[in-house]
Amino acid sequence: MNNSVLQQLRNICSANCVLTDTESLQIYGVDRTTLWQPAPCAVVLPETIEEVQAVIQCANTENLAVVPAGGRTGLSGGAVAKDGELVLALDRMNKILDLNPVDRTIRCEAGVITQQIQEYAEQHSLFYPVDFASVGSSQIGGNIATNAGGINVIRYGMTRDWVLGLTVVTGAGEILELNRGLIKNNTGYDFRHLFIGSEGTLGIICAATLRLTQPPANRSVQVLGINNFQAIMDVLHIYNGGLPLTAFEFFSDLALSKVMAHKKLSAPLSVRSSYYVLLEFEHNDDSDLATAVELFEQCHNNGLVVDGVLSLTLSQAQNLWRLREDISETLSFAKPYKNDISVRISQMPDFIRAVDLLAEQNYPDFEIVWYGHIGDGNLHLNVLKPDDLSVEEFNQQCARVSIHIAELVASYGGSISAEHGVGLLKKHLLHYSRSDTEITLMRQVKQLFDPNGILNPGKLI
Ligand code: MLT
Ligand code: ZN
Repeated sequence: MNNSVLQQLRNICSANCVLTDTESLQIYGVDRTTLWQPAPCAVVLPETIEEVQAVIQCANTENLAVVPAGGRTGLSGGAVAKDGELVLALDRMNKILDLNPVDRTIRCEAGVITQQIQEYAEQHSLFYPVDFASVGSSQIGGNIATNAGGINVIRYGMTRDWVLGLTVVTGAGEILELNRGLIKNNTGYDFRHLFIGSEGTLGIICAATLRLTQPPANRSVQVLGINNFQAIMDVLHIYNGGLPLTAFEFFSDLALSKVMAHKKLSAPLSVRSSYYVLLEFEHNDDSDLATAVELFEQCHNNGLVVDGVLSLTLSQAQNLWRLREDISETLSFAKPYKNDISVRISQMPDFIRAVDLLAEQNYPDFEIVWYGHIGDGNLHLNVLKPDDLSVEEFNQQCARVSIHIAELVASYGGSISAEHGVGLLKKHLLHYSRSDTEITLMRQVKQLFDPNGILNPGKLI
């Protein structure tokens, strides 16, 4: 980066908020993907919306590409800066601004860590329900920019469902207040929803007003051993009819073995099965717990479930959750090729059979770790690299197979990226889930908000 631009940035933010040392460039130039080398020209850490605006104005004048960065926990390369871009990190915009118990809202800057929002809400007897394994390091701005999902979507929906207002700086450098924290506001196009899930391509999310809700009553967890996919969906149907589910997750026995070995955990059940369902439900009194036992017995007697365990204490529930929540981190050391696909729940049994067959035919020698949010119709298929294959060859082979998976997803009217976003990783697959007309309209929308194309170029579209 030339010195005059660097000086302008130092004039906008303080000098210690502009980083150019090698370590910072390495850290801030990547998310949790491992396919690209970080190579940003600098990192800027503004502290106010006005500073963000001034940085964006400078970037427009200097024709400088900007990559917005939150906690960089993404899995699709949305926050990768590999081509000399300026990283605009929101870390210093990390204040909770207001919690309004009457409105049941929390207003915070984009760099607040998601878990802090959950904890702050809890201190005020309220609840922010979007939850996933990386809440301890992800930032709310990034959650909104990627419309984060996670483990409670079956009950509470995605991040989008909790955003009541946004303050953004567009790629053109305008400040927009979107939806003003209102519940009801039918005044034309709702730009807020354009920015949610836009992966930093339209503007910088600087602050948000989030809806909060009443905390759930007690929650208990059951882990069930199941031997086939069809049975998993039957169990979902049975439990959905009887209990208020807050999560319905699954993982394969291979996933369980990897987590147990890596985290030194013990098996949840005495009998091993091909798959496990981890379900969580809310209960107000003992009758819901009795229902959980009855539903288990029904599934067991029907031959759907082999074995099961019910948490009786909070710590037992937390330990069971680790078997599911620690899978991603456990596998990350093997740099797996990640698929994140979804179809409608009613299509799931047929779809899974077809994916299973496809995986068997195309990855005969690779280990495949199955897990995901099966209650939302979302599968995570992680393919592991055999030791004797180079990383390049492995990724190329997986990329070829991912085209067949995308074709299959398209034939079911599903999504090639259910919750991880498109970023760099899934860009070539976008047309399997969105029509040409939609993609053209997306480009036109980007042009409106970011006329010089400075924001996250090369991502998403
Ligand atoms: C998960 O469900 O564990 C997350 O989406 C992360 C992942 O898929 O690895
Ligand atoms: Zn997930």
